Amino acid sequence: MPAIDRGLRRLRLWLWAVVALVASALAAATLGLWPRGVDGGDDPAADYASTFGGPFSLVDPQGRRVTDATLKGKPFALFFGFTHCPDVCPTTLQSMARLRRKLGADGDRFNIVFVSVDPERDTPAEIGTYLSMFDTPIIGLTGTPAELARIVEAYHVYYQRVPIEGGDYVVDHTATVFLMDAQGRFFSTLAYEEGETARLAKLRRLVQR
Ligand code: NI
Repeated sequence: MPAIDRGLRRLRLWLWAVVALVASALAAATLGLWPRGVDGGDDPAADYASTFGGPFSLVDPQGRRVTDATLKGKPFALFFGFTHCPDVCPTTLQSMARLRRKLGADGDRFNIVFVSVDPERDTPAEIGTYLSMFDTPIIGLTGTPAELARIVEAYHVYYQRVPIEGGDYVVDHTATVFLMDAQGRFFSTLAYEEGETARLAKLRRLVQR
């Protein structure tokens, strides 16, 4: 085979390889396999953050509908739990109330939102009674299992009923507090193990941004 033919043949093979590559990239993008930024452009951290939060619709203790749109305009700290919780929920809510007081004048620049993931026992009214013990305004929400499934999916949290002795049950649940900005976008988290100094610093950044 003359050298020029071999060269053309190699070029043709190479071009086919490019075509195949482009075609598979297009197919991947069409199928949603290609990583696409939502808000973050080229920042992978921002892409990751944009996957927390989103639309939801629940009810408060007065039976009013509260959605992600209702909460817009003010940052919020969102937490999942149940009113019969023996430790994580009361500890977290007490801590949030204390942190709000420590923020002083900035304390009312964010909402505290508690979502009950125990719809069988926690009626909206009972959630209201429970939250009134914490001495600070907390928006208590719950909904139907389908409505709860939606927000649980949006925040990538976990909850599971766990039977205990005597036919009763507790609800195992994610203990993370999600800090969302005034536009409902993910800002940061407060971990259960995190010290109050770190928690306060994050809350301060949330309300002062
Ligand atoms: Ni709890």
